[in-house]
Amino acid sequence: MLISPRVESIPIGLQTFRIAAMRIDLVTLFPEMFSVVRDLGVTGRAHGNQLWSLHTHSPRDYTEDVHRTVDDRPYGGGPGMVMMAEPLTRALSVIRTQRATQDLAGQDQDTQEQDAQEQDAQEQATQEHVAQKQATTGQAPVVLLSPIGKPFDQAQAQRLAHSAGAIFICGRYEGIDQRFIDQHVDEQWSLGDFVLSGGEIAALAMIDAAVRLLPGALNHGQSSAQDSFQESLSGLLDSPHYTRPENLNGQAVPAVLLSGNHANIARWRREQSLAITLANRPDLLEQARARGLLTKADERYLLTLVAP
Ligand SMILES: C[S@@+](CC[C@H](N)C(=O)[O-])C[C@H]1O[C@@H](n2cnc3c(N)ncnc32)[C@H](O)[C@@H]1O
Repeated sequence: MLISPRVESIPIGLQTFRIAAMRIDLVTLFPEMFSVVRDLGVTGRAHGNQLWSLHTHSPRDYTEDVHRTVDDRPYGGGPGMVMMAEPLTRALSVIRTQRATQDLAGQDQDTQEQDAQEQDAQEQATQEHVAQKQATTGQAPVVLLSPIGKPFDQAQAQRLAHSAGAIFICGRYEGIDQRFIDQHVDEQWSLGDFVLSGGEIAALAMIDAAVRLLPGALNHGQSSAQDSFQESLSGLLDSPHYTRPENLNGQAVPAVLLSGNHANIARWRREQSLAITLANRPDLLEQARARGLLTKADERYLLTLVAP
């Protein structure tokens, strides 16, 4: 089936350019699991607004036997089954064709758009965001979800959100025939130091983390900028949040948040961030310090926390 190109509009100066939106392909034995990110919440709305697209591919559709076999016993013995390389390879080949077809259609569209634009605006269009996207269009990495992969983090989510997407391979059983990995997989990403039954839940988490960073994904008034790990927080953890009622069974909202004094509120939030990060993730504090992101006031406050 030919996939119609998804495009997004990027305002640059007075011009608006339409370029390919983030496309996520998933090779998975459980495509139905992905309705969660496609249909619900922030990611569902962003999908409805065509900020990203989701394409699932079951390896069973690429088998050649009557039982639609996707796994077999491991050479060398041992428990469990191993996903066979061939159905995965066929699925990947179809995905690459679909992505290439989409890119060609997208390029045609880009060209028409550009014809209608001023020539000098074309130069502006080479600004970083567009360049990044176009450079990666059609060259999306093949990413295997795997506990032996690199830990996924906010920086990786940012990179994914600024790219043309990825082709995720969701493993099941004991894993995937190594020859498929050697031949086709560009990167391996892990959700954390634990073993899941399959790559789907890891992929769902990573897609969610990236999509909410897409321009326009969050409602007005929501912002990912104030979230944990973001640059605006120097990579530290977020501070606590409160809402009504002001007094919850004797638990009062911190007075400073009711003061209306924005400087004091900002300082309080920063100090909460510092304290929580020191308690839960001192490694993040060290990273911020090494990057020169802690102010003198931050350091003074931290001293009060560690003083005997
Ligand atoms: C039961 S696991 C296989 C675990 C593998 N035998 C090992 O010990 O590393 C099945 C699949 O779940 C996925 N998976 C499990 N844990 C994961 C994690 N922490 N991050 C990403 N994917 C994971 C991978 O795709 C993996 O192939």
